Amino acid sequence: MQKSILTLLATLLLFSCNTTESSKNNYVSKTGLITEKAMVVTAHPIASNVGKAILAKGGNAVDAAVAVQFSLAVVFPFAGNIGGGGFMVYRNKDGNATTLDFREMAPAKAHRDMYLDSAGNVIKDLSIRGHLAVGVPGSVDGMIEAHKKYGSLPWAELVQPAIDLATIGFPVTKREADGFNRIRESLEQLNTIVPTQFFKEWNEGDTITHLELASTFVRIRDEGRAGFYEGETAQFLIEEMERGEGLISQEDLDNYHSIWRNPVTSSYKNYNIITMPPPSSGGIALTQLLQSVESFDLKNMGHNSANYVHLLTEAERRVYADRAEYLGDMDFYNVPIKQLTTPAYNKERMESYHPSKATPSDSIGSGNILLESDQTTHFSIVDAEGNAVAITTTLNGAFGSRVVVGKAGFILNNEMDDFSIKPGVPNMFGLVGGEANAIAPGKRMLSSMTPTIVEHNGKLLMVLGSPGGATIITSVYQTFLNVAEFDMTMQEAVNAQRTHSQWLPDVIMYERGALSEEVIKKLEDMGHKMLDRGNIGRVDAVKALENGKLEGGADPRGDDLAVGF
Ligand code: GLY
Repeated sequence: MQKSILTLLATLLLFSCNTTESSKNNYVSKTGLITEKAMVVTAHPIASNVGKAILAKGGNAVDAAVAVQFSLAVVFPFAGNIGGGGFMVYRNKDGNATTLDFREMAPAKAHRDMYLDSAGNVIKDLSIRGHLAVGVPGSVDGMIEAHKKYGSLPWAELVQPAIDLATIGFPVTKREADGFNRIRESLEQLNTIVPTQFFKEWNEGDTITHLELASTFVRIRDEGRAGFYEGETAQFLIEEMERGEGLISQEDLDNYHSIWRNPVTSSYKNYNIITMPPPSSGGIALTQLLQSVESFDLKNMGHNSANYVHLLTEAERRVYADRAEYLGDMDFYNVPIKQLTTPAYNKERMESYHPSKATPSDSIGSGNILLESDQTTHFSIVDAEGNAVAITTTLNGAFGSRVVVGKAGFILNNEMDDFSIKPGVPNMFGLVGGEANAIAPGKRMLSSMTPTIVEHNGKLLMVLGSPGGATIITSVYQTFLNVAEFDMTMQEAVNAQRTHSQWLPDVIMYERGALSEEVIKKLEDMGHKMLDRGNIGRVDAVKALENGKLEGGADPRGDDLAVGF
């Protein structure tokens, strides 16, 4: 191993424990880490420091993003991945923005009723666990395309940290140790070759290595796209599918390509929102939510007051109802983007809003219970030049399908569950859908991921995003409003407790402690059903300050860390 790599790793491991330098945040901190010119905020301290090291050696935000994406696949396998997919929103220092869709797609052999029995009923868990739940992975192609267009450092240098981390190993955090222990049984049940690297009773600080994954990364480093979609890695993946009766073929891998798409852009007062188009629902939904509330005096209502939560909920109810009806992969379905993101349309939708009465969702439809999951991950990067990257990437559920590709060591997604597997039947996030998001070969499943970049008076202001399934959109929405309407610092905006509603089920979820007893009572009196729960979202964000410095906002709900220089 090269000496420079060893030095880099030693630095990473040192930084991962150095909470002073990198400002490990908690709920009480008022201001996040402030840096002069560059910032990386991710869900894992080691991945954050990989990104910082790449920026420090002259890489740009996209270089750092590639290295972070691959490192997360090693150190944060709950959601970090090469077997999943994601979205990137990129804004360069001159203000030009684009997005990259590296979402998974349905294999050619997939079909609309593939998760139904002969009576037309949904077969429990078939779209969530095991080989049939897997969409064709997009992350490696996405990173290659992003690097080809915007990268500046050699590809090999960006893949190398993942190889080193997987080979040498790294200490697991308490949260990760608990996660590994929790899923051991299902890994045993769902895998055709048991992934023994996960098999022991894990404790915080134990070292974990991923040697087969390291070999896969060597092939990606040396052969680029062919190192994943062809040759040995592809062969291992196809053999895994054959053993587990999955659908992905070599043809699917050959046909997978990430897609550059125009961002969804809109304005909110003098802010400009740059975010992700379909197959994400996030960008359109965020735009609709903001247009729905823009004319109200939010500041005067007060943060997390009954009136504020009521208003947000009423907007969410209407927007998530539209999501279920109209949103899907726009390459397969004619998504009415223009109409949905027109201010007049969203204003009109709010005409039935009553300031003190909940609109029952069953006047629109009926739903089911939302399961908690935050096994997607988001990272935000700003480099010294002012280029900004927001990437949200996912395996869908925790450890995705829980299938680890034999001999290749990487975990496969269970993204097929993000399709509407039967009209009106909720997915694992309680989201329903219909024709727009029905399964079809080669189609991309609808996502809620909402990587977003915000400008203020034409200048970069914020880079943000979150995991959390259906709650991603509302987490980004509230974090933005916390800054734009309530003058919070980036860290306060990230820390602030959140609420969530999504039309169906007809309920307001709130983080335990987010709302006072009085506020809860007032909302119940308005006709809302209230449900307290654990964390909602896990936002990692960067804010550009007026003095030219940057503030990181790392979510204290996880092991997340902001670092920079
Ligand atoms: N798998 C979560 C999402 O894409 O919304």
